[in-house]
Amino acid sequence: MAYAAFRSIGAYAPEKILTNEELSHMVDTTDEWITKRTGIKERHIASEDEFTSDLGVKAAQKAIERSGIALEDIDMIITATISPDYFCMPSTATIISAKLGLKNVTAFDISAACTGFVYILSIAKAFIESGMKKNVLIIGAEKLSSITDYTDRGTCILFGDGAGAAMICATDDKNEAIIDIHTGADGEYADLLMTPNGGSGSAHDSLEAEAGSCFMQMKGNETFKVAVRTLTKDVKEILADNDLTGEDIVHFVPHQANLRIIKAVGDALKMKEGQVVLTVAKYGNTSGASIPMAINDIYEAGELKAGELMLLDAFGGGLTWGSALVPFSPKS
Ligand code: ACO
Repeated sequence: MAYAAFRSIGAYAPEKILTNEELSHMVDTTDEWITKRTGIKERHIASEDEFTSDLGVKAAQKAIERSGIALEDIDMIITATISPDYFCMPSTATIISAKLGLKNVTAFDISAACTGFVYILSIAKAFIESGMKKNVLIIGAEKLSSITDYTDRGTCILFGDGAGAAMICATDDKNEAIIDIHTGADGEYADLLMTPNGGSGSAHDSLEAEAGSCFMQMKGNETFKVAVRTLTKDVKEILADNDLTGEDIVHFVPHQANLRIIKAVGDALKMKEGQVVLTVAKYGNTSGASIPMAINDIYEAGELKAGELMLLDAFGGGLTWGSALVPFSPKS
């Protein structure tokens, strides 16, 4: 049987930085409020002519180069995004495949909001274990600034742009294999976090829709409570299912939405400070890109070594959630 190995990581953050101080001149907020309630200090914002696919390509190029896999050996690309270049079609994954110069590749997007990266990791694992694919490029890429309402202080302070990518490859060595992935969803909570306009469910003739808004709307406080409850349960379950404890985890890489959510889940797992990977201060919430961007940060800092076990966890619109037990397995 083939196993799926997490071979390499890459990420990209756009040049422009939007600070809390700058936001305080745009909406009624302060650096103090944002820092205390979220842990965010700044976020990166893509330029007008920089699309989600461009961010994804830059992250992907690093991941491909670091994997040692030849471009022509990549047989599938999956992109997790809620801010695609174009709504409906073509998929951002197909645009990325063209920009990378890839032909004869299966390419598609999935929509699972902030849980997107865990979802595409699980899809890559399933395709590899079934023998259908060998080298899968997975990309979380977001230009959330394109769907953010910069007059809404409840959301605009949270989100940033960026991309992260990983190569997931077939291996015969069970020691290199992704151990387990849990994914879940509960559509009963769909209205907590949504972009109400722009789809077949929106009122096309309403003034609101005409205003062109595909902007995110969020019931932040309710989302916060469900996030803490769901994530704590999920990470405890995936550890128990695999006879592991928090002590077995070298790097806990949570979705970077809010420092208070991360702390609550980390505390429930009795994680020590050095185990928890934190990038929320400098990138904000980059949805499907946040986990691979965080993994890339520890990789580039020389803190991610071959064989080290990562626990990933994420939560987002849908509502969706997921967790994964992933050893870092670069090609030796
Ligand atoms: N600056 C100043 N005051 C603010 C701001 C702001 N930017 N935003 C809200 N407030 C005010 C509110 O109006 C409210 O005032 P009131 O008490 O007078 O009514 C007060 O602050 C408290 O508001 P809450 O919404 O209760 O604040 P909370 O502590 O919950 O923090 C936040 C808000 C940061 C949004 C938090 O709820 C959160 O992080 N939620 C979870 C987000 C998340 O994880 N989403 C899922 C992933 S995102 C995705 O999938 C794309």
